Amino acid sequence: MENIKSYVQQHKDRFINELIELLKIPSVSADTAYSQDVIDTAEAVKASLSQAGCDLVETCDTPGYPIIYGEKIIDPNLPTVLVYGHYDVQPPDPMELWTSPPFEPVIKTTDIHPDGAIFARGACDDKGQMYMHVKALEYMIQSNTLPCNVKFMIEGEEEVGSASLAWFVERNQEKLKNDVILISDTGMISNQQPSITTGLRGLSYVEVEVTGPNRDLHSGLYGGAVANPINILAKMIASLHDEDNHITIPGFYDKVQELSAEERAEMAKAPFSLEKYKNALNIADVYGEKGYVTNERNSIRPTLDVNGIWGGYTGEGAKTVIASKAYAKISMRLVPNQDWHEITELFTKHFTNIAPAGVTVKVTPHHGGQGYVTPIDSIGYKAANMAYTETFGVPAIPVRSGGSIPIVSLFEKELKSKTILMGFGLDSDAIHSPNEHFGILNYLKGIETIPLFYKYFVELSK
Ligand code: BES
Ligand code: MN
Ligand code: MN
Repeated sequence: MENIKSYVQQHKDRFINELIELLKIPSVSADTAYSQDVIDTAEAVKASLSQAGCDLVETCDTPGYPIIYGEKIIDPNLPTVLVYGHYDVQPPDPMELWTSPPFEPVIKTTDIHPDGAIFARGACDDKGQMYMHVKALEYMIQSNTLPCNVKFMIEGEEEVGSASLAWFVERNQEKLKNDVILISDTGMISNQQPSITTGLRGLSYVEVEVTGPNRDLHSGLYGGAVANPINILAKMIASLHDEDNHITIPGFYDKVQELSAEERAEMAKAPFSLEKYKNALNIADVYGEKGYVTNERNSIRPTLDVNGIWGGYTGEGAKTVIASKAYAKISMRLVPNQDWHEITELFTKHFTNIAPAGVTVKVTPHHGGQGYVTPIDSIGYKAANMAYTETFGVPAIPVRSGGSIPIVSLFEKELKSKTILMGFGLDSDAIHSPNEHFGILNYLKGIETIPLFYKYFVELSK
């Protein structure tokens, strides 16, 4: 497909500018102040799919934000690829740490992206990666090389748990029927070494509230005589890991699949420099579960992390007070086979049990999802590997990621098909962080690689 290369070269400025326009709309799904922007982004995605050449494009209403569905059916006897992506983004805060405003995209160079990268919230996660698929479709239709049917399903609630998408998928099995699901919402090792994500972690996300006395108290008059909810919460959280950094919740590891020595040896072959990793984060040492190396700790092992903790006086100066309540948001990343409902229950029971008599504990589950692993001998994986090999010059390495896309396990359950995670982002692209960016090279290579996936998938399906 020499043609795709020249098509991309010829149209790259337009491809970049169209993405920049999409990135200007602040589609923050977590914050209702942006709800009109989220809806406007859905409409912009819809227009881009029509323009690319879909025969049918619909705004599908849901209990939450709309799902944009598009399709180009060329022959019902040919295979069908279902592309999934999300047009919503994470909140941009902390604003003051952005070197340029999050919704005013600019191109800047970095050490890792000497050809430039687009800086904006959503550049990599997931507007940039989703839009590669729209442009790849445009190319295949313009050049008359679309080798099979394609369906698009682009949602606006991924960053807040995909509740409406689950609702939609359960009600539209026939409409969404496909032979393979293709997603670009993950990363790869580096621009010299592509990789294909073969696993995602599951997630259980809870909020805890610890209540002590019925009102805030003078910390001199009452200090030492009543349980301080903040002290207690800190102690309870600290007790959730032992000295080897194992999680202490009874039953937490019961269903965890241990990898064989061979599988771990295979994982260790992926290029990784601990020195570079530490330097990039400016830390003197890594930290984690005893018995596992960094690449295992952040992918094949479950974790428990506090994402936020608050309570008491945090304003200027000092106020002497024992707060009535303390709070924390806690996430547990899970590995395949751990059930997130079960883990949420185990957490709730344990956290309530370890509270001393002087406080009461309330645990509120937020959202969650199951982990995912996909085999590397499927037609889809092989086609993806052939596509990367052609555009990057070296075969892709299978890698299990630490991130979560909870809807992927639901796709398998409801639609009975496998997902191929063809990501083009890099860990250094700062997704969910200030100064998120996406390499121009990654964006254009993605557009080049996707049509090759279609070509090889159809060839291998024959
Ligand atoms: N695209 C990410 C997930 C991701 C990124 C997976 C990089 C692998 C590599 C997705 O948008 C995301 O942020 N997911 C959330 C979970 C969701 C339920 C909020 C996550 O992983 O925290
Ligand atoms: Mn994403
Ligand atoms: Mn995300």
